[in-house]
Amino acid sequence: METIVSPSILSADFANLEHDIKRVEQAGARWIHIDVMDGHFVPNITIGAPVVKSLRKVTDLTLDVHLMISEPKKYIKDFVDSGADIITFHYESQSDLTFDIIKEIKSYSKLAGLSIKPATPTSAIEKFISYVDMVLIMTVEPGFGGQKFMHECVSKISDIKEYARIYGRDDLFIQVDGGINDATAKICTKLGANSLVAGSYIFSSSDINLAVSSLIG
Ligand code: DX5
Ligand code: ZN
Repeated sequence: METIVSPSILSADFANLEHDIKRVEQAGARWIHIDVMDGHFVPNITIGAPVVKSLRKVTDLTLDVHLMISEPKKYIKDFVDSGADIITFHYESQSDLTFDIIKEIKSYSKLAGLSIKPATPTSAIEKFISYVDMVLIMTVEPGFGGQKFMHECVSKISDIKEYARIYGRDDLFIQVDGGINDATAKICTKLGANSLVAGSYIFSSSDINLAVSSLIG
């Protein structure tokens, strides 16, 4: 499958989100990655469901919401109602409730994503592979854009690719987030990633079309 690029609006101009979304849309992006941070699960605060609701009105692109919050269970319905298409939460946030949260997201006919931080092994989420639509592998510590890609995390892509094979999940989205540029993108897609999040690489580029197409590969 063609690599799906999901530009992270964390690096966009928050005063001109509609404009920036149109720019990446024209450049060929199919998803928009929205980083939700609560200042507790991660040491930073960004945006919440009201912003997703406003973005829903200005784009038909898939809204790919990445929850970096301590209590995702409490907020799933808010993000569903705001128009999110994919809701990804962190395994580390409420690990005992992982199945419940996946079930809740699916009950609203939305795609469920499960993410792991750099220190969490892939074996921790093997049992969820049959139930999720996407696994998001973090290649930086979640919390901030513009960090350096952690090469030590890339073997996790192969692990998840292997799980997808074992559990017959050819349709699984394997997404990588953090430090993606044209060089790190190639490493990830070669190992089996089919969705790439990129913030600073895209939005700080002087040629957005070129930046997005360099990731589609
Ligand atoms: C980090 C976020 C990322 C971030 C990526 O916690 O999850 O989505 O925006 O930014 P870059 O692409 O600049 O590493
Ligand atoms: Zn993200």
